[in-house]
Amino acid sequence: MSAESARTIALPSGEEIAALGQGTWYLGEDPARREQEIAALRLGLDLGMTVVDTAEMYGDGAAEELVGEALRGRREEVFLVSKVLPGHADRKGTVAACEGSLRRLRTVRLDLYLLHWRGRWPLEETLAGFTDLMEAGKIRYWGVSNLDVADMVELTALPAGDAVAVDQVLYNLSRRGIEWDLLPWCREAGAAVMAYSPIEQGRLLKVEALGAVARALGATPAQVALAWVLEQQGVAAIPRSGSPDHVRENRGAVDLHLPTEALDALDEAFPPPSGPTPLEML
Ligand SMILES: NC(=O)c1ccc[n+]([C@@H]2O[C@H](COP(=O)([O-])OP(=O)(O)OC[C@H]3O[C@@H](n4cnc5c(N)ncnc54)[C@H](OP(=O)(O)O)[C@@H]3O)[C@@H](O)[C@H]2O)c1
Repeated sequence: MSAESARTIALPSGEEIAALGQGTWYLGEDPARREQEIAALRLGLDLGMTVVDTAEMYGDGAAEELVGEALRGRREEVFLVSKVLPGHADRKGTVAACEGSLRRLRTVRLDLYLLHWRGRWPLEETLAGFTDLMEAGKIRYWGVSNLDVADMVELTALPAGDAVAVDQVLYNLSRRGIEWDLLPWCREAGAAVMAYSPIEQGRLLKVEALGAVARALGATPAQVALAWVLEQQGVAAIPRSGSPDHVRENRGAVDLHLPTEALDALDEAFPPPSGPTPLEML
């Protein structure tokens, strides 16, 4: 296993980021697990999982604080992502929320800042806040999360809306709806897709059909589920783990290329969509 992640995806700017990153939902909430969670995140960086996804929502800032501690001395290795809550996402609120995230994360700049989901504020307001933050050098890129095709069409029709770098959405073997419309739309528009809950918060790992494919490949169910996401062009995955053993296991997905027979067996057990499906959220 090489220390550098062998797989990357391209942002619209052409910049490449690791296709396998790390989520942080529910991290930083249990003092008894803190040291292990920090060790897990740092091990992930050692193994090339250098995209770190967090949000002001997670643990009311506790996840960002944990990430800030984990990244001490290593900030430059990381592509750091955080998110503004919809209720904060007017122009001024977006800037203020980002400044709070920067403080908790102990950094001066985010690599990517996302609208967590669409709420009551018009998209123009959030976009104006993102633009202010870009101009101030506090974020490098902006994007969205949980936006389906109609919202993306509306967003990209706004002035500067086509600069959207990423749509972060629920995507895994058991949630394939985006393959019908949103994923092709994003590819066409040049926006990258970040798959959240790529192992369905652990629930996928108990599905026997996935276990059978994994056994045939000498891999684990988590590795197959993650490798499957990484097979999709232009899609990154951000599994969350507070366990160094799981992080090491998940990193193995980068080196696992799924043969046609495995992909066919997975298609049979987890069929692709046969029509439009509204975007699901967790
Ligand atoms: N934008 C959004 O609205 C949104 C929504 C949901 C999630 N997210 C982001 O996406 C990230 C990932 O999604 P998620 O946390 O919902 O779910 P997930 O990554 O699909 O699953 C996380 C769960 O799986 C376990 N796990 C991880 N690797 C494992 C392995 N190899 N074997 C067994 N269990 C394993 C973790 O426990 P251990 O800690 O014990 O390993 C944890 O309980 C989040 O953390 C967050 O950053 C974004």
